[in-house]
Amino acid sequence: MRIAAKTRNQRRGTRIVLTVLVLAAFFWPVGAMPSLANGLAVTPPMGWNSWNQVGCYGLTEQVVRDAADALVKTGMRDAGYRYVVVDDCWQAPTRATDGSLRPDPARFPGGIAALADYVHARGLLFGIYAVPGSRTCAMASNAYPASGIGSLGHERQDAELFARWSVDYLKYDWCDADTVDSLDRKAAFTTMRDELARLDHPILYAISEYGASSPWTWARPVANLWRTTNDLSPDWASVLSVLAQQADVAGYTGVPGGWNDPDMLQVGNGSLTEDENRAHFSLWALLNAPLFAGAAPDKLTAANLATLGNREVIALDQDFAHGQGRRWSSSGDAQVWGKPLSDGGFTVALLNTGTTPTPISTTVPGTWRVRDLWQHTDTGSATDVVSATVAPHSVTLLRLCRQAKSLA
Ligand code: GLA
Repeated sequence: MRIAAKTRNQRRGTRIVLTVLVLAAFFWPVGAMPSLANGLAVTPPMGWNSWNQVGCYGLTEQVVRDAADALVKTGMRDAGYRYVVVDDCWQAPTRATDGSLRPDPARFPGGIAALADYVHARGLLFGIYAVPGSRTCAMASNAYPASGIGSLGHERQDAELFARWSVDYLKYDWCDADTVDSLDRKAAFTTMRDELARLDHPILYAISEYGASSPWTWARPVANLWRTTNDLSPDWASVLSVLAQQADVAGYTGVPGGWNDPDMLQVGNGSLTEDENRAHFSLWALLNAPLFAGAAPDKLTAANLATLGNREVIALDQDFAHGQGRRWSSSGDAQVWGKPLSDGGFTVALLNTGTTPTPISTTVPGTWRVRDLWQHTDTGSATDVVSATVAPHSVTLLRLCRQAKSLA
């Protein structure tokens, strides 16, 4: 009797172990590795960054102050947009005699510490831009007339200065540090990681090398987020091209604190229509992307604001169950992207990349309560299949919840 009972227990134990192994194999990210243990970016960070709005020469401290004020006034801060990040071209053309970086005196007359205070006083966090090599990207691409303002050889000095200025977020951008400075990506990004780790002040660490060395395969222990592609432009073709490059990187992202970054948002910029803005925003949320607005927060149209401020879509971005969104299928103009949610449901994006209305459907076994995250309505229940006729250059974004008993 005892032996039989033991055998049953053993069999049960084996079954449990096997089930756990199968589930682990299914859900464990392909590239799982320890993540940077700085306690930051627990969910994908959100905020505003100057680059997509004003680029290089339009960057001034007033632009940054206006953005901070508008994030508060529009309710964007309270929706989650917390980091105000000053991108390239904040720097004076040379370092001070003691080797310190300093801000451009004409465009940042009040200095960076005062600007960070201004941002902090509004319940926001402050970020800044630097590079591991000797040239910033604007020096390389925009003929920004500076020299010696890269962090190469100044990593400790720059990290300490950023901490003194109460910087909360560092965007560390590669540019051409391999060809110009013969640096190795992983080594150079790790050098700054280690300098940041020495500080008393926590600084979220966002690295950017455009996906060139597949950073998703190595950057989890190095940074809180890593760019996966070249720059996103404010047009539909670029949104689709960057999106296509996210189809294979889903297994490498997630909690705690390590995210694929398909670049900052272009919602409200360039030629993107509001349908295209919504599709772009929906897909970035499905990818658990960092969400950095890149249009002037004080000049957004009501429609732009409704897009960036859609709390149901933001909640989707901030929810991580066991994997960011993946492309489930693609056929002609119809793509289906999906993501598991922590409540046991799914979000499904039915994306029409083409120019005529297109019926799109996908299989999701089970019976589901369906909610349309742009219509903000429950649309009924679905069993095994969800479908919609999707407008051109648009998405239908559906949240599927397990069927409630009362509706069964
Ligand atoms: C690169 C980055 C951009 C921006 C510019 C600044 O192009 O990808 O996001 O930071 O540099 O020069």
